[in-house]
Amino acid sequence: MTSPQAPATGTSPTILISGATGNIGTELTKHLAVRGVPFRAMVRNPDEKSAQGLRDLSGAELVAADFNDPASVGRALSGIERAFLLTHSSAQAEAQQLSFVEQARQAGVRHLIKQSQWAASAESPVRFLRYHAVVEQAIEDSGLAYTFLRPNLFMQGLLAFKQSIQAQGQLFAPIGEAKVSVVDVRDIAAAAAAALTEPGHANKTYNLTGPQALTHREMAAELSAALHRPVAFVDVGPAELLAFLRKTGMDTWMAEGLVEDYAHYHRGEAAEVALGVQEATGQPPRSFVTFAHDYAPVFNDDSPGH
Ligand SMILES: NC(=O)c1ccc[n+]([C@@H]2O[C@H](COP(=O)([O-])OP(=O)(O)OC[C@H]3O[C@@H](n4cnc5c(N)ncnc54)[C@H](OP(=O)(O)O)[C@@H]3O)[C@@H](O)[C@H]2O)c1
Repeated sequence: MTSPQAPATGTSPTILISGATGNIGTELTKHLAVRGVPFRAMVRNPDEKSAQGLRDLSGAELVAADFNDPASVGRALSGIERAFLLTHSSAQAEAQQLSFVEQARQAGVRHLIKQSQWAASAESPVRFLRYHAVVEQAIEDSGLAYTFLRPNLFMQGLLAFKQSIQAQGQLFAPIGEAKVSVVDVRDIAAAAAAALTEPGHANKTYNLTGPQALTHREMAAELSAALHRPVAFVDVGPAELLAFLRKTGMDTWMAEGLVEDYAHYHRGEAAEVALGVQEATGQPPRSFVTFAHDYAPVFNDDSPGH
């Protein structure tokens, strides 16, 4: 295991960020660095390229730990008071997160901030929403203070369609004209940073959405304007989405879960606009127009590997 880096401030961190190299973790760790809050970033391999950006952040200490290795998680949690729990969704996510909660309890962590999902429910037909609900319940049962972040579909999730936008000018999804109150990952990270560093967020659940619900046709039109290229929405069936995802190499559990997710969106169950971003951060959420403008260079970048 690589030795943890000395924190820039000289203060030993009492905050642990898991999933630190991911979409939310990358934004969250930047927030903490800007606020001058020392933190420990849990990464599978500190020598990986994905962890390099973290090394340059003020106040960052890297620790090697793997959700599948409880002892390493226990070491990462040593001396920690507040922890951010995020794994990517997978067939192992529920077990990984339940193990993390138990390790946190044993390590004396006081407050867990869990990345959950909009409409998490043990009765949901969507597998992601079921496992998030199971973990939320375990955290409540553990007696630790908690903050549950329940974001809707990420705006940045549309980057998965970058190639079809570039090659065919198409954004496709099995969603018809249903609206979704999509949210910017940067606002989720801001809510997590607030819960980790400020008082007043204990035992709260924040439903995180953008400021408006949009159809994918409306999102395609906004992307078209921001990218200065035609982007048309194409409504497809669930089988076509499944075939596309499997072709990208995604495993069956995850691909079928995303199809369930889209059926849930199609039923109009993710169209409500909630106030969670404003409540958690004191700031209004970013609009889709802002997202499209800020990420236009990323959508338009066709250099290899991007
Ligand atoms: N996408 C959406 O629209 C959406 C909407 C609502 C909620 N969510 C929820 O958001 C979460 C995903 O967030 P995200 O997009 O930020 O995730 P992500 O980008 O996929 O990041 C996953 C992180 O977990 C780390 N990781 C993976 N396996 C690990 C292991 N065995 N041990 C330690 N670390 C491990 C990864 O590290 P490496 O760098 O080592 O791989 C990475 O830092 C999921 O819980 C999902 O349900 C997503």
